Amino acid sequence: MTDRVEYLGEGLAESDLAATPFAQLSRWVQEAHAEGARGAESPEGLALSFATVDADGAPDVRTVLMRFLDPRGPGFVTDGGSAKARQLAADPRCAASLGWPELFRVVRFRGVAQPIEPELLAAYFAQRPWGSRIAAWASHQSDPIGSRAVLMAEFDRYAARFPDHGSPDDVPVPPTWAGFRVAPWEVEFWAGRSSRLHDRVVFTAAGAGHPSLLDDPGAWRVSRRQP
Ligand SMILES: Cc1cc2nc3c(=O)[nH]c(=O)nc-3n(C[C@H](O)[C@H](O)[C@H](O)COP(=O)(O)O)c2cc1C
Repeated sequence: MTDRVEYLGEGLAESDLAATPFAQLSRWVQEAHAEGARGAESPEGLALSFATVDADGAPDVRTVLMRFLDPRGPGFVTDGGSAKARQLAADPRCAASLGWPELFRVVRFRGVAQPIEPELLAAYFAQRPWGSRIAAWASHQSDPIGSRAVLMAEFDRYAARFPDHGSPDDVPVPPTWAGFRVAPWEVEFWAGRSSRLHDRVVFTAAGAGHPSLLDDPGAWRVSRRQP
């Protein structure tokens, strides 16, 4: 492993900072798109590392795809019976990060998870390919399973129950279909620079520990951290 890569990003000066975390985030997402950065062009959405704590207070983390982004925070879809969903039911505190390594940029969130509205979830479910919709019925995410053959048999069972007629209505929304957004009380914009003198600009919600709308200019105070 080498530690010699210089981070030659543009950095982030307070004078260039947008008035709200949402405006700054939108700017970085757009710039990543314009630069063709990894993940930015993907119809799949952006990879988000999403962390929770379990019942013992031990951290857990996994990758999800950011499917929703609005001033309430970044959101994703998942299985309501999954380990992450069960952890969030007991403790909604969470953290997430998304980044574009080739632009030397990462955005980091700390906050609480809030459920995504059923109408939004259903509308998104209807857009998924038929196989993905069947898989959402067949898989009980995070539960143990004896073999892949058992999973495939479940897939075949639901495929026969909800055949593909090419319509979004072919497959009903599974009862366990769920989604969460990270409603943040802290958002950090990290911009890599040379000699490890990176910029770290942090928006903190005025009501400590309570999430704020990302597009509310009065709700956030800005500070800088050492790299
Ligand atoms: C690129 C990528 C995207 C993923 N997107 C999702 C997603 O949007 N939702 C999801 O539930 N799992 C997604 N997964 C799978 C998760 O990383 C994880 O395996 C799964 O959610 C189970 O996590 P849990 O047992 O902690 O609940 C993705 C994995 C990868 C590698």
